[in-house]
Amino acid sequence: MMNPFRFQTVPTLIVEFGAARRLGALLRAQFPALQRLCVVTDGFLHTSGLLNPALADLAAHGWHATVIDDVIADPPEHIVLEATARARTAGAELVLGLGGGSSMDVAKLIAVLAPQQEQALSDMYGVNKVSVSRLPLVQMPTTAGTGSEVTAVSIVTVGEAKKMGVVAPQLIADLAILDAELTLGLPVAATAATGIDAMVHAIEAYTSARLKNPVSDTLAIKALELLSRNLLPACEDGHNREAREAMLLGATFAGQAFANSPVAAVHALAYPIGGIYHVPHGLSNALVLPHVLRFNAESAADRYAELAEVVVPGAAGNVDEKTQALIEKLEQMIAATAIPARLRDVGIEREGLGRMASDAMLQTRLLVNNPRPVSEADALAIYTAAF
Ligand SMILES: NC(=O)c1ccc[n+]([C@@H]2O[C@H](COP(=O)([O-])OP(=O)(O)OC[C@H]3O[C@@H](n4cnc5c(N)ncnc54)[C@H](O)[C@@H]3O)[C@@H](O)[C@H]2O)c1
Ligand SMILES: [Fe+2]
Repeated sequence: MMNPFRFQTVPTLIVEFGAARRLGALLRAQFPALQRLCVVTDGFLHTSGLLNPALADLAAHGWHATVIDDVIADPPEHIVLEATARARTAGAELVLGLGGGSSMDVAKLIAVLAPQQEQALSDMYGVNKVSVSRLPLVQMPTTAGTGSEVTAVSIVTVGEAKKMGVVAPQLIADLAILDAELTLGLPVAATAATGIDAMVHAIEAYTSARLKNPVSDTLAIKALELLSRNLLPACEDGHNREAREAMLLGATFAGQAFANSPVAAVHALAYPIGGIYHVPHGLSNALVLPHVLRFNAESAADRYAELAEVVVPGAAGNVDEKTQALIEKLEQMIAATAIPARLRDVGIEREGLGRMASDAMLQTRLLVNNPRPVSEADALAIYTAAF
C-alpha cells in the first residue's frame, strides 16, 4: 500500500553548459512579450565579470536589464525590502535570480513583493502563508548547493540572528537554467561547503519523517550518487567540467527531493551557526552533519544503511555497521576538502553552545521532519560533540 503524496517542481528545467552566453535568446523564446527584467545577484559576482556574457546577450535580445547586486550571504530582511523597492522603480516584468542561494532566495521574494502592496514580507514567514501571485521568475545558480532554483523556499535573516523561511508554492520558479560553466571558478572552500549542503539535502530528504515519497527518494539517491562521486574531483580541479556538471545536476536533484520531503535537524542545528556566527550555510551543515547522523542512527539506521550502499559501495555488515561506514565516509570527505571540522575552528566558544541549542529549538518547521525527536538537551549534546 502506498501513502498518498504530492510532488511539485519547476515546470521547465534547462541543463546546458554555456547557457548563460545565450541567456537573452533563451528568455526571449520563453517570454516573448516582456522587456524589463531585473537580475538579482551579489556585488562580487557582478564586479567579477562572471555575469558579463549573460548581460551582453540579454541586451542583444532587447532586454532592459536592471542589475540589483546588493544581495549579501544569509540575506537580512532589509536587503530584501530595498531590492524590492528598486525592482518596483525599474518596473520589472521578470525577475532573474543569478547567483548562489542567497541571490536566488532574494529573487523569489522580489517576485512576490514587487507587484503588490497587500501582503507584507512579515506576514509571509512559515509554510503556505503567501496569498498573492508573483512576477515571472527564472533562476540560474552559480553554486552547486542550495537547490533554491527548484525549491519553494526562501531563507531570510530576521533581526540580528534568526533565520526564517518563507515556504510557498508561489516561490517555485517558471524556469531553472543549469549552466555548469558558471561554477568553474567557484573557490575550493565554497565548492566543498555548497556541495556538502546539497548532500545534506539528499540525506535529510531520504530520511524525512514527514512527506517522504518515492519521487523524492529516487532523486535523493541519484543526487547522492552524483554528489558523493564528484565532490572531491570538483574540489581538486575546479575546471573539471564533468565533475562540475555532475555537482550542479546533483544539487538540483537534491533540491527537488527536499522541496517535497523536507530537511530536518542538520539544518535546524546549522541555522543558529549561520545566524549568530555568520558561518556560510554549507559549512554550518558540514560542522554538525556527522554528529546529527550519529544521534539519529537509532531511529534511521535502516535508511542510512540504504544510503551507505550509494556513498560507500560494497559496505559490508549489518545496518548499524553500514550506518557507521556512511558517517565515517562523510567525515573523511569533509576532512579531505580541508574545510574546518569543529565548531571551535570557526570562532565559536563553548559558552555560546547553550544559546545555539535554544535557538535551534525555534526551528520547529524543520525539527518536525527529523527521524528522532530532538530536545534542547539533545541539541546541546550534539553541539558539544561537534565542538
Ligand atoms: N531556498 C532554499 O531552498 C535554500 C536551501 C539551502 C540554503 N539556502 C540559503 O542559501 C544561502 C546560501 O547560498 P550559497 O551557499 O549558494 O551561497 P551564497 O549565495 O551566499 O554565496 C556565497 C559566496 O559565494 C560567491 N559565489 C557564488 N557563486 C560563485 C561563483 N560561481 N564563483 C565565485 N564565487 C561565487 C558569492 O559571491 C558569495 O560571496 C543561505 O542564505 C541559505 O540559508 C536556501
Ligand atoms: Fe541547505
